Amino acid sequence: MFDIKKVRSDFPILETEVHGKPLIYADNAASTQKPKAVIDSISELYSSSYANIHRGVHHLSQKSTALYEGARSTVQKFINAEKVEEIVFVRGTTEGVNLVATSFLDPLLREDDEILISEMEHHSNIIPWQMLANRKKVKLKIIPLLENGELDLSQLPALLTDRVKMVAVTHMSNSLGTINDVSSIIDQAHAKNIPVLLDGAQSIAHLPINVQALDCDFFVFSGHKIYGPTGIGVLYAKEKHLLAMDPYQGGGDMILSVSFDRTEYNDIPYKFEAGTPNIAGAIGMAAGLDYISDLTIEAIDAYEQELLEYATQKFLEIDGLRIIGSAPRKGSIISFVLDGVHPHDVGTIMDMEGVAVRTGHHCTQPVMDCYNIPATTRVSLSFYNTEEEVDGIVSAIRKVKELMG
Ligand code: ALA
Repeated sequence: MFDIKKVRSDFPILETEVHGKPLIYADNAASTQKPKAVIDSISELYSSSYANIHRGVHHLSQKSTALYEGARSTVQKFINAEKVEEIVFVRGTTEGVNLVATSFLDPLLREDDEILISEMEHHSNIIPWQMLANRKKVKLKIIPLLENGELDLSQLPALLTDRVKMVAVTHMSNSLGTINDVSSIIDQAHAKNIPVLLDGAQSIAHLPINVQALDCDFFVFSGHKIYGPTGIGVLYAKEKHLLAMDPYQGGGDMILSVSFDRTEYNDIPYKFEAGTPNIAGAIGMAAGLDYISDLTIEAIDAYEQELLEYATQKFLEIDGLRIIGSAPRKGSIISFVLDGVHPHDVGTIMDMEGVAVRTGHHCTQPVMDCYNIPATTRVSLSFYNTEEEVDGIVSAIRKVKELMG
């Protein structure tokens, strides 16, 4: 395992007090906190190495370019992509999905085709497909959710008709914690030559990701959910897809030559990175990935699973608390409802105790509809959380009951 004291000291914000109480940060599914390594990498870039990239012969531009392209290699290794050209920097998961919907799928769709997603997707992996489906007059089909928070994969063979041109599913649910059997989904889709996009927004920080072993066509994630900065993320796509795809946006850096008659696009991945990119974001994200690689994602996963088990047991001891989502394979997320108390009140009172959780629909309104509830309170744990903090969270929930019961 790893030295939890040392790990916690790497994250300056964990020293914060909230309403006079030590912060217990349990909103990691919304965004993770940043280790000093990430903060320092950004500060160092701007202090000693910053200039625009791919444009200058001068020393700083070369230095900045090397750091930015080094970040791309770091991502490639982290998810075991075959080629560095398969890594496209985007703003985040949302932009990655939109890019695939627009540049890959749109030109392939014919009327009456189908796009298959699932009932547990967060809005970033619903709306881009829904907009596309409306635009192209194709059908958006849904893999349904079971009561325990798993996908009903028994329906997959019937859903995978010859008209399906894309399957887009989440690897790990942000509101339920469910880890999906994506290998089975990918195998079945590929047997019918249907490409698969995996939404890795949550799984990236909790599970080892090997895109070659998964054999997914596309994998998207955001830097800020894996201990890096906001405004940066990754689209991994198989080289053959990127080569066949049109650019997403036009502008500087995505071209080789421009005239008013004809423009020649740049090679992949630059063809998809129009304009000056988020240079500091990419470099900061890579620093975060290096930090995680040092701890190892396997050790993180094992530690978080222990924490999840401990927290689940403690939560189940609370009268009137119902956990939403009890799939056998879960990441360290617990969504719950408390009898007679609106989640907004739960979150507000917990905040007064120094505990940060998310309340609401978690950008997954269809999941809430499925359970017939408006909202949940979500505790999402990271490797820097401790059993003592879980005890603190449980005390805060008991406090809610005391005040509202
Ligand atoms: N999708 C993010 C969350 O789960 C914003 O909170």
